[in-house]
Amino acid sequence: MNNQTGVTVEGLRKIYPSSAGVAGGIHEADFHLPPGTFFTLLGPSGCGKTTTLRCIAGLEHPDSGRVQVDDRVFFDQRKGIWVPLNRRNIGMVFQSYAIWPHMSVFENVSFPLRVAKDRSYSREEISSMTMKALSTVALESFAERSATQLSGGQQQRVALARAIVREPSLLLLDEPLSNLDAALRDNMRTELKRLQRQLGITTIYVTHDQAEALDMSDKIAVINQGRVVQLDTPEAIYFRPENAFVADFVGTTNLLSGKVAKACPKGGSAKVRLANGQIIDCTSLRDVAEGDAATISVRPESIVVVDGSGGDPGNRINAQVKLRGFVGNLARYELTADDMKFSVNTNPKVQLRPGDNVVLGFSPDDAIVLADN
Ligand SMILES: Nc1ncnc2c1ncn2[C@@H]1O[C@H](COP(=O)(O)OP(=O)(O)O)[C@@H](O)[C@H]1O
Ligand SMILES: [Mg+2]
Repeated sequence: MNNQTGVTVEGLRKIYPSSAGVAGGIHEADFHLPPGTFFTLLGPSGCGKTTTLRCIAGLEHPDSGRVQVDDRVFFDQRKGIWVPLNRRNIGMVFQSYAIWPHMSVFENVSFPLRVAKDRSYSREEISSMTMKALSTVALESFAERSATQLSGGQQQRVALARAIVREPSLLLLDEPLSNLDAALRDNMRTELKRLQRQLGITTIYVTHDQAEALDMSDKIAVINQGRVVQLDTPEAIYFRPENAFVADFVGTTNLLSGKVAKACPKGGSAKVRLANGQIIDCTSLRDVAEGDAATISVRPESIVVVDGSGGDPGNRINAQVKLRGFVGNLARYELTADDMKFSVNTNPKVQLRPGDNVVLGFSPDDAIVLADN
C-alpha cells in the first residue's frame, strides 16, 4: 500500500507550437490534492484541460514541471524522471468511452488487469476484481453481454468500471458525460459523485459545464487560455470570483464599472463610485486605493426588487424594467439604470411589466470588487 499523500502537480507546462502563431496547451498548472479530493478543471473549449490531464496520465510528455501521486514521482523534468503510462496505474475515462465492441463487458473491464506491465494477476484475481468493479457500477449481471448491446449510459459505466478495476490511486475523467442526453447526464452526475465518495478515490474531472463543476467538486481550477485563473471551492468560485473571466464564465453576473471612492485592504469594505455618480458599498478582493478603476460583480439572484417588506438591502439603485422572462423556478428580468444594464432573478410570482420603475437592492457582501482590474 502506498503512503497516501495525494496528488501534487508543480509547474506543469506543455505548449504545442502552432503555425497560426497562437500556441495552445497549458502554460502552468500548480495544485496539491489531498487523498479523496474531487478536483475539477473547468474552462471553455481549447483552454488546455485535456492537455493537463494527458500530461498527468503520461499520454503526453510535459515541457517542464513535476507530477507526483502518493509516494511515486511520475514525472520530474529537472531530475529526468519519466514513468510510462502503463506503469502509473491511473484510471481514465474519456468522452468517447472507447469501449471495445468485439469484447464482452467482462473482457472490456478486465482488460487493464490482463495487460498490466507492473504486476501480473491470477485468473481468480482477474475474475474477482472484475466482478467487484462491475458490481460497483451495478452491472454485474451484464458481464457476458456484448458491449454493443448496451445503452450509452451503460457503456459509460463499463468505461468507469474498467477505469477503477485496478483500484488506482487516481482517476482521470475527461468530459465523461458530455455524450449522454440531458436526463441521463443528470443521473450519471449524481451516480458518479456517489461512487467517487464511496470509493474515496482522488479524482480529476474535466468539464466545460459550470453546473457539473459546481455540483460535483471539492475544489475547482478555472482555466482560461492555458492558465489557472482561480483555484477554490465551488462556493468561493461562485460567490467570490477573483476576476471578470471567472465571474462571467461561472454562472451569469452583472459587471459594474466605477472608481474607488474609499480605499480598503483586501477583504475589506470599499466604496465605489459608478459612472452615474452613485456610490456603492462593496467587498473588495484586493487592496484598493482611492481613484483606482474597479469592476464590481453582483449575481442576478443577489439582487432584490425592494418593496418595503424586507429589511435594509444595503445598496439601492433606481431602475426600469425592460424585459421579463419566466423560466418556471424563477423569473428573469432585464432592467436599465442610467447607462447600466442589470439582470435580476426573482421569485417567479413577482409580476413586473416592461416600463415599471423599481428600486433594486443588494448587500455590500454580494457586491464584489474583482481582483484583476
Ligand atoms: N496534439 C496537439 N497539437 C497541436 N495543438 C494541440 C494539440 N492538442 C491540443 N492542442 C491545442 O492546445 C489547446 C488546448 O487543447 P485542449 O487541452 O485539448 O483543450 P480543452 O480540453 O480545454 O478543450 C487548443 O488550442 C488545441 O488546439
Ligand atoms: Mg478537452
